[in-house]
Amino acid sequence: MPDKRISVVTGGSSGIGQATALKFAQAGDRIVIADVNEEAGAAVAGEIAAAGGDAVFLPLDVSDEDAVEAVFDRIARDIGPVGALVNSAGLLENAATTGKTAMALHDRIWAVNYNGTLLCSRKAAAAMAEAGGGSIMMLGSINSFRALPLPSYNPGKVAIKGLVELMAAELGPKGIRVNGVAPGYTMTKPIADKIAAGLRDPKAIMASCALDHFVTPEDIADAIHFLCSDAARAISGVMLPVDSGWLAASTYNHFPAVPDG
Ligand SMILES: NC(=O)c1ccc[n+]([C@@H]2O[C@H](COP(=O)([O-])OP(=O)(O)OC[C@H]3O[C@@H](n4cnc5c(N)ncnc54)[C@H](O)[C@@H]3O)[C@@H](O)[C@H]2O)c1
Repeated sequence: MPDKRISVVTGGSSGIGQATALKFAQAGDRIVIADVNEEAGAAVAGEIAAAGGDAVFLPLDVSDEDAVEAVFDRIARDIGPVGALVNSAGLLENAATTGKTAMALHDRIWAVNYNGTLLCSRKAAAAMAEAGGGSIMMLGSINSFRALPLPSYNPGKVAIKGLVELMAAELGPKGIRVNGVAPGYTMTKPIADKIAAGLRDPKAIMASCALDHFVTPEDIADAIHFLCSDAARAISGVMLPVDSGWLAASTYNHFPAVPDG
């Protein structure tokens, strides 16, 4: 076995994946960042190396089955057995109705968010099974639990929750744990851009949270790190909300006047 755990982070060029790559590197893992954004991915790998960590960047479109096969084969050949996979590559969506959603956009969001997660996870799992175990992380969302007006993204995140449970049951006997995190609105670039463009309302978001804290990528990375660590050795098949209490408070807070005391 290698001296360091090898952790692959798809979508590691930005946002939650970037924070996760930095967190895992600080904890001593050898990081493989796999992303379509080559410039940003190389910069994150460089930042990790400059801090004394160990990281490489490999270009990858997670929706391309042949490319996924080739990248994971290359990792196995040139770097070593993957101990953890974090599927953070993903696309967000603007609010719309199902009736007004173009199928090309629908298909692309599913191809990246759902198919990409499935393709990378099953390829990594095959190698993990041979090596005797590992940990797989999938990115769900508060959309995994509630209806929000994102007609392609929302059902895709429900499906990711199902995939976590399915693969946890399938792969547990091989020593592979499969879990998810369900971020609430998290201050990454796409969310900051949507707020700036008036497509998300930060006041409404905060009014729906229990905690007075806008979720950060580092909050999500901490939860991912825990779930992929040995401290979570008895946890598999969960989708853990990291949402400042949005799932609890968004329904509770819709009552206009709850008496004090
Ligand atoms: N930011 C949020 O509020 C939020 C909330 C819930 C869930 N999530 C989920 O977290 C994950 C990461 O989102 P983020 O906010 O960090 O977004 P982000 O845009 O900051 O990062 C996503 C990364 O995925 C990469 N990517 C996009 N398409 C790809 C492809 N086909 N192949 C490989 N890489 C690709 C992008 O280049 C980018 O580096 C997504 O699954 C998203 O649905 C985010």
